[in-house]
Amino acid sequence: MTVLVTGGAGYIGSHTCLELIAQGYDIVVTDNFCNSLPEAVNRLKTLSGTDFPFYRADVRDADAMDGIFKNHEIECVIHFAGLKAVGESVRLPLMYYGNNIASTVQLCEAMKRARVKKFIFSSSATVYNGDNDMPYTETSRVGDCANPYGRTKYMCEQILRDVSAAEKDWSVVLLRYFNPIGAHESGQIGEEPDGIPNNLMPYIAQTAVGRREYLPVFGADYETPDGTGVRDYIHVADLARGHVAAIRYCKQYTGCDEFNLGTGRGTSVLELVSAFEQATGVKIPYRIEARRPGDLPLYYAATDKAAKVLDWRAEKTIAQACADSWRWQSRNPNGYKA
Ligand code: NAD
Ligand code: UFG
Repeated sequence: MTVLVTGGAGYIGSHTCLELIAQGYDIVVTDNFCNSLPEAVNRLKTLSGTDFPFYRADVRDADAMDGIFKNHEIECVIHFAGLKAVGESVRLPLMYYGNNIASTVQLCEAMKRARVKKFIFSSSATVYNGDNDMPYTETSRVGDCANPYGRTKYMCEQILRDVSAAEKDWSVVLLRYFNPIGAHESGQIGEEPDGIPNNLMPYIAQTAVGRREYLPVFGADYETPDGTGVRDYIHVADLARGHVAAIRYCKQYTGCDEFNLGTGRGTSVLELVSAFEQATGVKIPYRIEARRPGDLPLYYAATDKAAKVLDWRAEKTIAQACADSWRWQSRNPNGYKA
């Protein structure tokens, strides 16, 4: 089966490309490099020993997408391409709606023209309403998102539900990722945020490598065991396997279904810092600062549905994720830049 991966040069997309190749899928990859670099694609080709077709294109470019569908017998699309920085989405909402919503709609239209009917969408735990009880299950309340980024994911989910209701032979899978961390065990590919990292693990890793002086810990007065925020951190390699499980599911299912991809366990900021120090032997200086606006104290995933229906579970530990993040960051202190 040939799978089109949009946003395949990015953090989660690149790891999923490697897993797809390892599992015997043919891949076609597209990315416009608005948040990634061509070097990621070079490394993917070297690591996998596969010269897969790559197109530098924007998913919103209908001609480019039609060309890709014409050139290849694509059966399934995994749509990673999108913008993901929460703070930026507050400052530049139009850019977020313009990219995340339009790319999803345009991609569905191109798929319709090419009669491709399997769609796997990168959604997020941010679609859940913060007032839900823990853990978030797939039936927990969604919507009322805290920021424009979250709203784009929520809206895309609604759009895809409507599409699947109209196109009865489509199979749409919404994968709600919790907090991806870690890197490929080779240390050759990993997460390289542009500028100052928004997310915890890249901030820790950049502090460890000396690019940041200390880690700001956003709040130590939450109602959590140690006062710091709690999240469900999942190794990106486990997340990649979740996409392969979703493709298998698409083969025998039509409609629109959603799954949490998380571990079911919560880890606090200070626990992650301590796990990183233990796994790497590197001390992480940190300072307690004010809460970050819009942050929730604690959330983690219910994982039963993915286990039962997709036969998928996260397997890697936080310690492995810390060691892998460090291997990537220490061997590539400036990411993909030389
Ligand atoms: P990323 O920024 O590393 O990867 C996204 C890729 O898409 C980038 O390479 C970027 O250049 C490309 N891209 C963006 N808009 C495009 C467009 N219009 N046309 C072509 N390419 C385009 O992000 P990631 O962490 O790998 O996230 C992948 C997906 O998963 C995103 O949709 C994101 O919202 C979602 N997600 C991420 C997280 C997370 O914490 N990383 C959590 C939940 C959901
Ligand atoms: N944190 C710090 N210091 C930092 C960065 C983060 O203390 O420098 C804390 C946050 O306050 C929070 C925890 O670390 O308690 C995790 O924060 P992240 O920014 O790493 O992750 P979020 O849970 O805020 O959001 C991330 C992505 C979203 C995605 C969501 C899915 O940014 O895009 O996970 O759960 F949707």
